[in-house]
Amino acid sequence: MLIKKRTGIEIPSSEITPRHIYLSRRKFMKGAAALAGSSLLAACASPNEELATAVPPSDTGAATTAPLPTTAPSANTDELGDALNSFEEVVNYNNYYEFTTDKEDVAKLAANYPTSPWKVEVGGLVSKPQTFDIEDLRAFELEERIYRLRCVEAWSMVIPWMGFPLAKLLNAVEPTADAKYVRFETVLDKENMPGQKSPWFQWPYVEGLRLDEAMNDLTLMATGLYGEDLLPQSGAPIRLVVPWKYGFKSIKSIVKIDLVDTMPTSLWMDSAPNEYGFYANVNPEVDHPRWSQATERRIGEFGRRETLMFNGYGEQVASLYEGMDLRANY
Ligand code: MTE
Repeated sequence: MLIKKRTGIEIPSSEITPRHIYLSRRKFMKGAAALAGSSLLAACASPNEELATAVPPSDTGAATTAPLPTTAPSANTDELGDALNSFEEVVNYNNYYEFTTDKEDVAKLAANYPTSPWKVEVGGLVSKPQTFDIEDLRAFELEERIYRLRCVEAWSMVIPWMGFPLAKLLNAVEPTADAKYVRFETVLDKENMPGQKSPWFQWPYVEGLRLDEAMNDLTLMATGLYGEDLLPQSGAPIRLVVPWKYGFKSIKSIVKIDLVDTMPTSLWMDSAPNEYGFYANVNPEVDHPRWSQATERRIGEFGRRETLMFNGYGEQVASLYEGMDLRANY
């Protein structure tokens, strides 16, 4: 993990990823996605979605219309020496089922989604419930966090996020002694989010963490990446990032956070309880019922690499699960 306060050093975007490298990586990405075929794509989908997932993503060849960021990250690698994924990779290969199950179409479909004004209501078992405007949240001191994101579908990226520890927000509302879990909700907006018309899921997207997981310093409320505010496809204006858990825990476009005393049921637990549990810690020894979790495909790379326990963050988080059976608590 790399943690760094915002430096404000401005570096021309041309220095972030040379255009020819980006283009050849993108070409590779498309080939790799096609090769992966139906078995891995949209692997989050419940069995009911097999029809949709049997179709490889359409390759529109459309590049992002997003302007390149002007602020370069403080490092080119994470703490393990793994290269950052390019901005273009991060904002053009997304899971955001509220728009579509096709990763390469999310950016286009979400492009005009209105993310301002935006409010986040924080309540439940707290002494000081509050509704924050997004500007209030951006006023928390933003830090750069370079994290690996490991999707349950067995692909991964390295992303330079901007955000603040969730613990800061939770401390501001003062959880009561009864609070044991944190429940997060994405915006519900069937008009503007076509995917929310899908009957296969119980909308809105919900996720949850145990309170001690939520208070861990790694758990981030992200408002930006590559030094810029989040784009809609990445979960603008504010999302969760929990780097030692499968990517589906990192819920996007949050409007509600509640402190509760019972374990929340997430959208994925509800739709396929035999495949997706509450904990969802990255674990190469516990396979998904339909595929192995031992290896992963890093976007932009050839071949596969071994998946690390807790996605490589064991030193910071393994103690949270001492004495727990991680196979039973998947
Ligand atoms: N949050 C919402 N609201 N809806 C989603 O479909 N997909 C999840 C997670 N958060 C998802 C979501 C999954 S499966 C992954 S892997 C990550 O977002 C992907 O984040 P990215 O698109 O920024 O890479």
